[in-house]
Amino acid sequence: MTTDFRTPALDALAKEIIPEEHFEFSTTTARDRFFHDTRMLDVKQWVHNAFRTNPTPMVGHMLDNLALTGTEDLLDLGCGNGFVLEHLRPYLADGSITGLDIAPAVLDAARQRLHGTATPATWIEGSADDLSMLGDGTFDRAMANYMIHYVPDLDRCFREVRRILRPGGIFQLTTDRTDSMLEMYDAHFAALKAMDAPRDLFKASPKGRLSLSNGAGLLGKHFTRVDTVTWQDQLRFTDPEPFMRFYEIGHNHCCASSEPDERLTETFFRELRDRVRARVTEAIDTGGYFAVTKYTGSFLCY
Ligand SMILES: C[S@@+](CC[C@H](N)C(=O)[O-])C[C@H]1O[C@@H](n2cnc3c(N)ncnc32)[C@H](O)[C@@H]1O
Repeated sequence: MTTDFRTPALDALAKEIIPEEHFEFSTTTARDRFFHDTRMLDVKQWVHNAFRTNPTPMVGHMLDNLALTGTEDLLDLGCGNGFVLEHLRPYLADGSITGLDIAPAVLDAARQRLHGTATPATWIEGSADDLSMLGDGTFDRAMANYMIHYVPDLDRCFREVRRILRPGGIFQLTTDRTDSMLEMYDAHFAALKAMDAPRDLFKASPKGRLSLSNGAGLLGKHFTRVDTVTWQDQLRFTDPEPFMRFYEIGHNHCCASSEPDERLTETFFRELRDRVRARVTEAIDTGGYFAVTKYTGSFLCY
């Protein structure tokens, strides 16, 4: 089965609908709103795994990237609820894990997830651009998966990662292209348009701050070599409801409900969801499923 889901029609759609401007959210918003509990991560992780069509899961690609031998000391910046670490842990039987996150609730979930396993684990509540509690050259691998767009000072973060890595160490930074999950954005923007919604809601994903298209330059200032590894996946839904949970809870209605906005009432969001659901249902009725194509990947920095 193919894992190349790009088509000329999708490429043309991306050019037409994905705005240059992207949403921006602070670390404080991430800590106090998105990740004050594990709900958002739980929904995303469930959907990405249950509905994917690429037989290799995200962590499979990461295992290829990280080339673990079992003895490495690994630092995970923005480790969230430990979903990735749980999968990598058996490959670090004689190594160690350090998870750092700004949000105490998800960090605690990660701690509980790995509790009692044989790989020593350390948990640090903090921001990825201040690693002053960690010594020079103390890690073989560092990673920052789907989190870097929240970090206030990117240059400081990358300088710090360089400092804490041993010679020969690898830093994996995983992010998306801004046209990832295009079909979700298409349904969302079409609904917003039909509702004559405020223009400032028409923005791309916050990952636009450091995406697969613009990240290599920033990283190249701090690392001698930056390789880009990409992969695709396609989520396919034959029932609209799991997609609707992904859209509403996992993605805050493509960021429209990320922060309080008095212009946007519950009635607004109900109508938005009804319109998006109708579009998804129509795609399922005509094509058998609603597809959401993912363009994702990692920068491997040496
Ligand atoms: C989308 S989640 C990704 C979680 C995990 N890396 C994964 O791939 O499953 C983003 C995480 O970054 C964390 N975060 C946001 N700003 C941060 C910062 N400045 N430093 C460290 N973690 C941060 C959030 O609390 C959240 O757990």
